[in-house]
Amino acid sequence: MLLKTPPLGWNSWNTFGEEINETVVMQSADTLIETGLAAAGYEYIVIDDCWLLRERGEDGRLVPDPVKFPHGIRYVSDYIHSKGLKFGMYSCAGYHTCAGYPASFDHEWTDAATFAEWGVDYLKYDYCFHPKTIPGHILYKRMAAALANCGRDIVFSACSWGSDMTKLWIKETGANLWRTTGDINDSWQSLKALSLVAGDAVRFGSINCFPDMDMLINGMHGKGNVGLAGCTDEEYRLHFSLWALMGSPLMIGCDIRDMDDFTKATLTNPEVLAINQDPDYNQPFDVSPESDPIPWTDTELHSSGEHPIYVRLLSDGDFAIGMFNLSDQPSNRWNTALQLDRIGLPETTGKTLVLRDVWTGEEVIVKGGIFSAVIAPHACRLFRARVIDKP
Ligand code: GAL
Repeated sequence: MLLKTPPLGWNSWNTFGEEINETVVMQSADTLIETGLAAAGYEYIVIDDCWLLRERGEDGRLVPDPVKFPHGIRYVSDYIHSKGLKFGMYSCAGYHTCAGYPASFDHEWTDAATFAEWGVDYLKYDYCFHPKTIPGHILYKRMAAALANCGRDIVFSACSWGSDMTKLWIKETGANLWRTTGDINDSWQSLKALSLVAGDAVRFGSINCFPDMDMLINGMHGKGNVGLAGCTDEEYRLHFSLWALMGSPLMIGCDIRDMDDFTKATLTNPEVLAINQDPDYNQPFDVSPESDPIPWTDTELHSSGEHPIYVRLLSDGDFAIGMFNLSDQPSNRWNTALQLDRIGLPETTGKTLVLRDVWTGEEVIVKGGIFSAVIAPHACRLFRARVIDKP
């Protein structure tokens, strides 16, 4: 199937982990609608690991845990669809899921058929406990072939954490999304580590094969399965800005039944979501003074500087521009300077940009071909920039 834009939704793992059940899933579907998240575009409700029993049934099929899902999975799926939402599930390319439950290796066709019968629209497919004798690209091809033949459109979300050079082979497998790194947790350390390598992954992304930077931690505030120290509001806003700009799926990870106003306002900002969902997925590129203007030609994992400035050309000719300060000091006019010639708009064109800050609504016209900002530690500015004739 063709996936044109990154999926928006909610996933159970970050908050609930092992504690997943029917009530949580169905209430989260209700909440997606009641809070306006669905109206803003969030449509997938995804059950992650730990939904099943430790053994397959006598018929060889995966069996939902009857305590967690007393009415079975089809019941939950029907409920989610009755709300106009889409339904996602989880399995793994190995013998076991990461939490040790049965997984799909050598059962790909049976499991794809089961997921199709259950009305699944999205499959997250992990990489734990896989046979070391079979390369990752073949494991993902096995499930991709089964899904493509299961009679239902199912978004195939690969989760091999960027390992074994995923970025080099993922597009040939048929996966629609691919996890670029190991797991996020709810702390600035984790957010910074993932942010530093974000630019590396997006070079290998495209429409129908979007880079998945992992589920969101916005609004977790240290609570739940991957809750650690928690982050400040500024840090959560930086997180959402970067993930949106890079074209990552935006899968909410907090307990949305108990979401604070800041989190809701962040997650539903229409201008930020419009950047994420722009129909042209032109790759974001780093134009910070610390970055190298010549694209890398090798395939090593590259880290940006601590002040990346990512730019993305949008379908209507605007630019999305994010200036990030991942360091512990305020940025200055040298390390956070946007030079218009680096995005293809030199002074000789007679053009410049109006930068509209999508968080504050403030507008500023770039003068003299350069715009500098002083950005607080762990904060960012995100703009939608319109091209105008120089005033
Ligand atoms: C990890 C994966 C997480 C979560 C977890 C479940 O491998 O990256 O996102 O799905 O497994 O056990």
